[in-house]
Parts: sequence; C-alpha cells; structure tokens
Amino acid sequence: MTWSNQEWWPNLLRVDILDDNAAELDPYGADFDYAEEFESLDFEAVKSDLRELMRDSKDWWPADYGHYGPLFIRMAWHSAGTYRTSDGRAGASGGLQRLPPESSWPDNVNLDKARRLLQPIKHKYGRKLSWGDLIVLAGNVALDSMGFETVGFAGGRVDEYKSNEAVEWGPETEWEETSPERFENGEVGNLKDPLANTVMGLIYVNPEGPYGEPDVEGSAKNIREEFERMAMDDEETVALIAGGHTFGKVHGADNPDEHLGPEPEAAPLENQGLGWDHDFDEIPGMITSGIEGPWNDTPTQWDMGYIDNLLGHEWHSVKGPGGAWQWRPVGDDIEAAPGAQDESETEQPMMLTTDVALKHDDDYRAVLERFQENPEEFHEAFARAWYKLLHRDMGPPERFLGPDVPDEVMIWQDPVPEADYEIIGEDEIAELESLIRDSDLSRAQRVKTAWAAASTYRDSDKRGGANGARIRLEPQRSWEANEPEELETVLGTYEEIQAEFNDSREDGVQVSLADLIVLGGKVAIEQAAADAGYDVTVPFEPGRTDATAEQTDVESFEPLKPKADGFRNYIGGNYDDLYDTLEERMVDKADLLNLTVPEMTVLVGGMRALGATYGDSERGVLTDSPGTLTNDFFVNLLDMDYEWEPLDEDEEIFVIRDRETGDAKWEATRFDVIFGAHSRLRATADVYAADDGEAEFVEDFVDAWSKVMKLDRYDLD
Ligand code: HEM
Repeated sequence: MTWSNQEWWPNLLRVDILDDNAAELDPYGADFDYAEEFESLDFEAVKSDLRELMRDSKDWWPADYGHYGPLFIRMAWHSAGTYRTSDGRAGASGGLQRLPPESSWPDNVNLDKARRLLQPIKHKYGRKLSWGDLIVLAGNVALDSMGFETVGFAGGRVDEYKSNEAVEWGPETEWEETSPERFENGEVGNLKDPLANTVMGLIYVNPEGPYGEPDVEGSAKNIREEFERMAMDDEETVALIAGGHTFGKVHGADNPDEHLGPEPEAAPLENQGLGWDHDFDEIPGMITSGIEGPWNDTPTQWDMGYIDNLLGHEWHSVKGPGGAWQWRPVGDDIEAAPGAQDESETEQPMMLTTDVALKHDDDYRAVLERFQENPEEFHEAFARAWYKLLHRDMGPPERFLGPDVPDEVMIWQDPVPEADYEIIGEDEIAELESLIRDSDLSRAQRVKTAWAAASTYRDSDKRGGANGARIRLEPQRSWEANEPEELETVLGTYEEIQAEFNDSREDGVQVSLADLIVLGGKVAIEQAAADAGYDVTVPFEPGRTDATAEQTDVESFEPLKPKADGFRNYIGGNYDDLYDTLEERMVDKADLLNLTVPEMTVLVGGMRALGATYGDSERGVLTDSPGTLTNDFFVNLLDMDYEWEPLDEDEEIFVIRDRETGDAKWEATRFDVIFGAHSRLRATADVYAADDGEAEFVEDFVDAWSKVMKLDRYDLD
C-alpha cells in the first residue's frame, strides 16, 4: 500500500484530524438518535443479562473464581481512566477501547477477551446500547454483583467507529517507554500537557514502580501527578485504587514477553481481532501483566480485605514467577486465597509497588487508615469516585440518561440553573438588539466577548461554552486571552442593558447575561455583513442561564484556559505542552470545537475581517475596512502582489510587503500565514478569495459562528 502524505512529509500540519468532525462514520447514519434508542432500552433486562453472564464461565476464557466481575471492573476502569482534564480527550465515551491504539495497549492485555464476553449482550440490544455504555455498565453491575452498592449509572456514550487521531499520547515510538520529552524540563515529574500517563501504552503508572523499579516513593509521586490529571484528589485516588484492588487478582504465571502472542492489531487474521495468544498447554496459569497473585482471600466480595492486608502486614519486594517486581508479605500469617481456577489450591496474597506506595506516602496512608477505621467512609468515597471516574467525560446533566442516574447533580458536571422566569421571545430579542446597537460596545468587543464565552467548549468532554455566562466568573474573567480589563467594561455594559431590560418587565420575562453576550455577537455580525452588502440573519436560540460561583469549580475550569487562540490571533506563551507550532495549537482548538477544515478557515478569515483580535492588534487584519464582513483576509493573503517575511527568530510574526515597492503593508502571525502555506488550507482559502467567493464566505461564516455559539446547548432538543 502506498504511503500517506503524512508519511512522506512527517512535519506536515495535520489538519486531517478535523475530517472526523465532518465525516459520516456512524453506520447507523446521520439521523441516528442514540439518546432516544437508549431511553427505549429495557434497562433492567440488560442488568439481569449482565449478572448472569458474570458467572457463566466460558472454556475459551475461564472466569477466575467462577466470576468475571473483577475482569469487567478492570475493563471499565481502563476505558474511563484514559480521560485527562487537560484537553478532555479519551475516556469511556465512544467505546474507544475497542479501537487502536487502546485496543492493543500493553496495559489492556486480555481486555479484548472481556469485550468478547460481552458481545452477545451487545448484539442482543444492538443500537439501543453502545459499546461505550456497555463497557461501563458491565463494570458497575460487576461491583453490584459482588456486594458493592454504587451511586448509579448514566448512559449516553455514543460509539465511535474510528480511532480519535487527535489524541496526543506522547512522544515515544516504543510501547512501555518513558522518554524525557514527556516531562517539563525533561525531568521526571511534571507531565507536559495534554498527557496524563507516564508510560506510553499504560493508562497511568507502571505497577512495578517508575522505570520498572520497586521505588515506592517515586511511585507515589507518579500516582499523585497522574490521578490529578484525571481530576482525582488524594482521597479519591486512594478510594479508587483500594476499592478496585479489593477485587480480583493479577496474572503472571510466567513472563508475558516470552509466552504471549502479538497484540490484536498485529495478530494474524485467523485470530479475528483477538490478541495476546496464550498456550495453556505450555503454561497452565493465566498471563496478563506478568505479576501474580490476589490482593486478599475474598477476591469476589466487597470487604476490607485489601486495606487490612496492606496496612496489617509488612511487605517486601521480590521478583514473581512472571519476572516482574511485586511485594510479598513478611511472614506467613496472612490468609491465603483460593486458587483462581482450582478451589482446592491456595495462593498467597501480594501487593503491587503502587499499592505499597499508598502505605508509604504519609497523606495517602492517612486516608487508608481513616478508611480502615470507618468502612462506611471508604464505601461512600469509592462509590462517588467510581461514579465520577466513569462519567467525568459526559458533560452536562442533560446528557445523563437512564433510570439509574442519581438525583444529585455533581459539581464536576458544571451545572447551570434552570430558568425560573419567562425566556425572551422574538419581540424581546428585537428590543434587546436595539439596546445593544445603541450601546458603546464596538463590534470587535461584542464578537470577542461572545467568542471568549462560547469557545471554551470542548467536544471531547462536552465542558465549557457560553451557557452559564461563566465568563463573568473566576477563573475565566481573569484569563489573559480574554483581556480582563476590556472584558470588565464590556460585561459592565451588558449588565446595565440586562438590568434596564429586566427591571422594565412586569410580565416575568427576563434575559440572562449568557444570552445577551451571544446576542451581542449576532448583532455585530449582522451589522458587519450589512456594511459589506449582505443582508443576513444570524440564528439565535435563547434560553441560556447564568451559573453562580457556587456552581463552579474554579480549579476544574483552569484546563479550559486558552494558552493560544488562533481565532483571536492570541499567541500566549509558556505552553509546557507537546505541540510544536502555533498552527498545531489552532488545529487542536478547532478539533475541540468540533470544526471542519472549511469551518476553521472561514472563522479565522471572518474574525480577522471583523477586527476581533487579541488586544485589538492589527496583525492578521488584512483589510482596509476592519469591522466589515469582507473576504479581504483571503484575497490579500493569497495575492501575488505581496510577499512575506518572518520578523522574529521563532517565525511567529511576519510582515507582508508590496513586491514592487518593498513597502510594508500588514503584519500577521503564523496563525494567518498558514492559510496560504499549507496546501489544503490554501485550497480552501482559494474558494473564499475568488471573485465569486465573498457571498459563500459570509454564508459559511454565519453558519460556523452559529455552530460554535450552540455547541453546548444540550438543553435544546
Ligand atoms: C495506580 C493505579 C493502578 C495500577 C498500577 C493498577 C495495576 C493493576 C495491574 C497490574 C493489574 C493486573 C492485571 C492482570 O495481570 O490481570 C490490575 C488488576 C486489577 N485492577 Fe488495577 N491498577 C490500578 C488502579 C486500579 C483502579 C483505580 C481500579 C478500579 C477502580 C482497578 C481495578 C482492578 C481490578 C478489579 C483488577 C483485577 C482484574 C482481574 O482480576 O482480572 N485498578 N491492576
């Protein structure tokens, strides 16, 4: 097969990651409404089928202790545990564990078997139950069937049918490697954004310890760094690890490197997508991680066995039968577990380096001791952390489906209040539009504020967006990209308009600041289009409400902060991330906004025409009539009468000169110049630069703009 362009020119900007945002990849078609299908599911029947399946051991993959529960918990945890707060990508949504690279990660050994065990249930319920939901539900029902009461479960994860190539997994080219480039300053410690794991191909940390050495201190450090990046604090981290490892065992009857076949993506055709072939005649025991043993004597029962064993015994490191570091109790006074496949045998409990690390870290140990003394607190903490782990990437409460969704709305769902007033209708919108037009807010101010509010949205975990008007709350109102001083003035004016309007109403109709901000953008664009000779109406759907500071977890909003924003021509700085160029960061942002290549292109060109740039900079505003919605940006960018020259060493700023006179005409950044340099972007820019391109440009800009303003509107049908 021929090489792709990316393979010929590895440094080519990857705009192809945006193609998934346009492509029709779902075999159920564009009109498929998974939420509606899921709501019609006989949910109790699914859970009952799962409970039955848990104990129905198959010869082709026999259940340990006659119960698949622990295996399913590990599967659910590994599907959700890839989530990272930095960019909201990965996680359980999409059922990505069944696609590469996750399907073949060294950490996911034998989870292909777990998913195959679930296949009859998936086929039975078809379109009503996605793989993403089924994988998570299986973990939940597993806990339930082993005596643990969970907080609940929400469905709503729509399956992907293609790997998400926008996920940056790290710089290494070998599995299970850790390179210095993974960390800020090249030193083990602070991971670079957007990463959350220290080892390529592992969900989190190396179970044997950093770099495969049984170093408990280093291990605790890694655990803290990574679980924080999954949005978990110390208590949640301990609850999750202790809760999870209350069940099941680790598998290392022998060395995986010597006895396991290739991973699914590299396995021969006849394996039909199953990997890690294992010859049971040669090695009768199971091999997964290469570490061997249960954590306690009751591996299919919720109890205090893990914590009691960990705290109640001294542990020392040894190489186990699989050749990996693990920890053995000092002395023999520990209750042995039954053999996983043969009850007449017994096996001594063990611990992983990461388990022992919890005991050696003072803060983690304090949590363990508190849990040991208060089993109910342990139960409560694990139940809540487990629910958060599995649902953290699902966005606002409107997306949580099914009868088992708890009544409580969690702070990590970024709740917005329901309107307790009448929402504005056509007449009120017209009245507000005229108040906005009469105010002294400039078009650029209105466009930038609406953009700043709406463009925090991330399609990865459905967080952010204009709804809630969190732009007026910390931390957003202080973000550099939002130009805090100017923002304060703009918000002040909007608040005055809001007060004037709301005070004047006696019929219960009120306007939220969130709606007003989006409306301001609409009015500005319509005015700018009219000045360019186009009579357009920018769609507007009212109904946004304003969240309070109490409904906002300030810390959890930090990762939504734009470090750079190509749309506003905001370069920012101090990236500490794995992206090399400004344009990569722009494409990354465009992907999080679920934009296609034409949508990204038209938005940049339009915002430049509107003069909506960071600090009102003239950079990239390649027009003599800013504030008018012309296609000048594209016309001038592609015009051969001009030539370009970098102005700084990093080649971030460019000057555009008249070829004949050599006179400087404009300045621009890499965010601008890339649309002339990259052949796919230039091909799109060509369309808008053409003599017949301006009407198309205005129409497409309005569509793309409205799409961004509505990205977070899960409250609408
Ligand atoms: C520092 C974090 C963690 C590390 C390093 C770790 C490591 C491991 C390893 C190496 C295995 C053995 C796989 C095998 O050989 O079969 C395992 C199994 C397991 N893990 Fe974890 N784990 C971590 C956190 C968690 C969490 C948060 C949960 C769930 C809440 C969990 C649940 C399980 C379960 C249930 C098993 C048993 C699977 C079975 O019996 O087949 N683990 N873990």
